[in-house]
Amino acid sequence: MEPVRAIELNGFGGPEVMTWAEAVDPAPGHGEVLIEVAAAGVNRADLMQRQGFYPPPPGASEVLGLECSGVIAELGDGVHDWQVGDRVCALLSGGGYAEKVVVPATQLLPVPDGLDLGAAAGLPEVAATVWSNLVMTAGLQAGQLVLIHGGGSGIGTHAIQVARSLGARVAVTAGSADKLQRCKELGASVLINYRDDDFVAAVRADGAGADVILDNMGAAYLARNVEALANFGHLVVIGMQGGVGGELNIGALLRKWGTVHATNVRNRPATGHGSKAEIIAEVRRQLWPLVADGTVAPVIHAELPISEAGEAHRLLESGDAFGKVVLRVQEL
Ligand SMILES: NC(=O)c1ccc[n+]([C@@H]2O[C@H](COP(=O)([O-])OP(=O)(O)OC[C@H]3O[C@@H](n4cnc5c(N)ncnc54)[C@H](OP(=O)(O)O)[C@@H]3O)[C@@H](O)[C@H]2O)c1
Repeated sequence: MEPVRAIELNGFGGPEVMTWAEAVDPAPGHGEVLIEVAAAGVNRADLMQRQGFYPPPPGASEVLGLECSGVIAELGDGVHDWQVGDRVCALLSGGGYAEKVVVPATQLLPVPDGLDLGAAAGLPEVAATVWSNLVMTAGLQAGQLVLIHGGGSGIGTHAIQVARSLGARVAVTAGSADKLQRCKELGASVLINYRDDDFVAAVRADGAGADVILDNMGAAYLARNVEALANFGHLVVIGMQGGVGGELNIGALLRKWGTVHATNVRNRPATGHGSKAEIIAEVRRQLWPLVADGTVAPVIHAELPISEAGEAHRLLESGDAFGKVVLRVQEL
């Protein structure tokens, strides 16, 4: 039998530390399935893990990769609602940059008919992050204004479509006119170039401010995000690209009865309250029909072979990508 291969990190550092090498052949335990991986999504978190700044949670695979698509090759004990041969995509705690990965069955989503496995690999992480934050945490409603920072990111391009499908109005920030134009095509109506424009003024221009803010910048935007919030607004911080240690003006937040949340998906428990299983169940129930009918579509900037994982990381780092970058592991 051919050995299983996976991306191995030879120390922490630049994209060159990643090599495609022989790896441990994983076997599914109770409640898990083994996936033959077709493709893996690339996330900003992978770049941080490669640099040594984002270790996997205890018990998770050391291999990079928070999401993948593929075909179920084996069922562990106690898995009854999936079959060998099913086309799936999966939310992972790690291990996606590999030919095979093991995952709890509660983190699987079926790949809708007609959706390519390459495109499907870029969905689970953005779907889980966007749905859990915009809907389950912030309770975004029809008619509300949501501000999505980094509208051209993998997360942003998905969040715009989800928010529009809920009937919300969408404001976005991005660093170029071209990305803003493409965000507009996805449904954003307030377009803010973060290099030139003041996002607080932009979202307060025609009224009360943003009911929900999805933030990737952390400390650098904390004060201005609180200013941009509407009464009873929710600021949800999901990224720390602008640092971790900000100062919160409690008075400003208190006067508008606002809430600041900070959440991540990867470190959540597999099951129980607030778990990955709970999020995936909600994604499957509420969001997946919109993915199946094309209302919410994957936005894939590029698909590269896994042998070019370094190039894929450079591409995401360059800021040139609009939407997701995906690695093709094998044709299935
Ligand atoms: N908490 C979680 O569970 C979770 C899960 C997934 C992702 N995330 C976070 O979500 C963010 C997006 O992830 P991704 O994988 O989709 O990354 P990505 O595609 O690499 O996107 C990064 C984004 O940051 C934007 N950006 C850079 N400087 C900015 C600024 N000053 N103001 C506003 N936006 C700015 C970039 O915009 P331009 O290209 O227009 O410059 C780009 O859209 C990351 O911070 C990531 O860590 C969190």
